[in-house]
Amino acid sequence: MKVNPASQTDGNVSEVETHAPDETVALGHTLGRRMNHGLVILLFGDLGSGKTAFAQGLARGLEVPAPSTVTSPTYTLINEYPGRLPFYHVDLYRLPEPADPDEIGLLDLFDGDGIVAVEWAQRLHPADRPTCRLELFFTVTGDTARSIRIIAYGLDPSDLLNDIDVCSIPP
Ligand SMILES: Nc1ncnc2c1ncn2[C@@H]1O[C@H](COP(=O)(O)OP(=O)(O)O)[C@@H](O)[C@H]1O
Ligand SMILES: [Mg+2]
Repeated sequence: MKVNPASQTDGNVSEVETHAPDETVALGHTLGRRMNHGLVILLFGDLGSGKTAFAQGLARGLEVPAPSTVTSPTYTLINEYPGRLPFYHVDLYRLPEPADPDEIGLLDLFDGDGIVAVEWAQRLHPADRPTCRLELFFTVTGDTARSIRIIAYGLDPSDLLNDIDVCSIPP
């Protein structure tokens, strides 16, 4: 099923501030640790806003070997890593907008069992976003400060998003 996010009313919103790159990694780590089945995570934000740092944290939480090797898959579009769940790191930066998700195999991933993190998700037409997903919006608010707005669509966000306290997340 496809939905128009503009008509979504079940978005459940959380706002997190991080004050160092490690804190953004830790946020990804905390969320990744809590993931036990496939999920699509759309990442929005300018270059340098922390999307890849977050994806590195996700990789840690998913027990990907050598998570620090996770870098923006700018030339390959999709990098796949083994972990507790398969982890797919996607970067649509180089694609024209709107990107055709079928052409690059994204729709299959959206229907699969892995964790799919998509940088530059604004390249996707809104109608191509899966019904169940997390959307994260990264904003640079200072030299080392980032504001991250997390919206859960079509899923119960309580397991993932409750009690996020970045200060208490182990690095
Ligand atoms: N709080 C923060 N969270 C994430 N990155 C930060 C933060 N403060 C500074 N940075 C820096 O911002 C850059 C983020 O880069 P990256 O994660 O690759 O961004 P993107 O993938 O959005 O282009 C890195 O150079 C990192 O050191
Ligand atoms: Mg990146």
